[in-house]
Amino acid sequence: MNNHTMEDLVSLCKRRGFIFQSNEIYGGLQGLYDYGPLGVELKNNLKSAWWKSMIYDREDVEGIDTSILTNPMVLKYSGHEETFSDPLIDCRDCNARWRADHISDNKCPGCGSSDLTDPRPFNLMFKTSVGPVEDGNSFAYLRPETAQNIFTNFKNVLDSTPHPLPFGIAQMGKAFRNEITPRNFIFRVREFEQMELEFFVKPGEDEEWHKKWIDIRIQWWQDQGIKRENLELYHVPSNELSHYSKATVDIMYKYPHGIEELEGIANRTDFDLGSHTKGQKDLNLTSNVMENTRSNAKLAIQDLETKEWVVPYVIEPSAGVDRGFLALLNDAYSVEELENGKERTVLALKPHISPIKVAVIPLKRNDKDIVAKSIELKNRLQRSLTGRVLLENTGNIGKSYRKHDEIGTPACITVDFQTLEDKTITVRDRDSMDQKRVNLEEVNAFLSENYSI
Ligand code: GAP
Repeated sequence: MNNHTMEDLVSLCKRRGFIFQSNEIYGGLQGLYDYGPLGVELKNNLKSAWWKSMIYDREDVEGIDTSILTNPMVLKYSGHEETFSDPLIDCRDCNARWRADHISDNKCPGCGSSDLTDPRPFNLMFKTSVGPVEDGNSFAYLRPETAQNIFTNFKNVLDSTPHPLPFGIAQMGKAFRNEITPRNFIFRVREFEQMELEFFVKPGEDEEWHKKWIDIRIQWWQDQGIKRENLELYHVPSNELSHYSKATVDIMYKYPHGIEELEGIANRTDFDLGSHTKGQKDLNLTSNVMENTRSNAKLAIQDLETKEWVVPYVIEPSAGVDRGFLALLNDAYSVEELENGKERTVLALKPHISPIKVAVIPLKRNDKDIVAKSIELKNRLQRSLTGRVLLENTGNIGKSYRKHDEIGTPACITVDFQTLEDKTITVRDRDSMDQKRVNLEEVNAFLSENYSI
């Protein structure tokens, strides 16, 4: 049975400790969520898989981790100050404020009045003040995308870790947008995480690389466990493109609330490196304080063959961690009817994504020898496996299995009286519910062979 709703996912997330509403005890704050004990594990697993595929498995990408607070100049020259806005309309009768594209028939969706203002741009960037004096000049933005500090570090990375074109710089981390209508759980929020690669290529090779990255990224989401039939490509029409983009293809996912963007893959051309180079030149003209940025500031790379300086084009696969989390959860979730007429909820996550890799369950919670053996096994497995191993000492095997089906643990290991005698344990598989007796010495090999953990 796979006709579940967003409410089913929200309820599972809260009940089992994946995601909580942020600041809940004070009534919450709209568009913010916290990741709980299981959520943080799943989220970290997703991010690790991305980092590995982008950096460790390739020879042409370096990773960085940059500041969230951003000098306003960066976002002025990136074009965000001017263009990163949504048009807003106010209702003069009920004072409600709406995104212009949410208004139809020129009527307020709240009270039905036609007394509406003209649309005005509303910038989505958050500002904060820096330092002790709030004088209007001492402000910084919270970054609206992780990409910009990749561009501003272009020379630092190249000077310290040289690469010929094509090469990339990757970053994962928080981004902030003052969304007018945060909605659909963690789909559209005001504080979220992105996983972004800026891949620098020779101008003229950009379209070919754009296609390559679309293929790589759609395969990657499948490798994380998303079914191909739930993914679609959307070629963004020219009138919807961001100010920096020559072409964008979005990877869309069938969320419970509809088909929406999971990742965008944009051809950003030389827009950003070009604008920041211009920014440096402009500031040199007007400010002595910027002395240290005067020399050799051009964000370009020398072609080793022609010796010419080239401003590379950029292909940018940009994925949302939270949207990825929601897609993985939705794809893995199902409610199965069992032969005995009962139901079970299963989260069929791939083992590398599962928050708990293995649960070790003592058959009797008060049996000293069984519990000691379980702790010993748990510690041994924890030392050798990547990811969390849990000791589940509830004394109720059926309940423990149900819990671990629901949170996506691929294997449960039960330690029982027979273990004390013949050094074997039972491994119970989440998906088939089959149980196998395995020698304690062979548990690691068994887990590696069957679950790649
Ligand atoms: N650097 C390019 C960029 O930021 P974007 O399409 O605005 O492009 C990239 O954002 C990804 O970030 C989206 O595909 C989405 O997964 C995620 N994202 C954007 N806004 C979001 C929001 N308000 N809440 C959650 N995720 C968001």
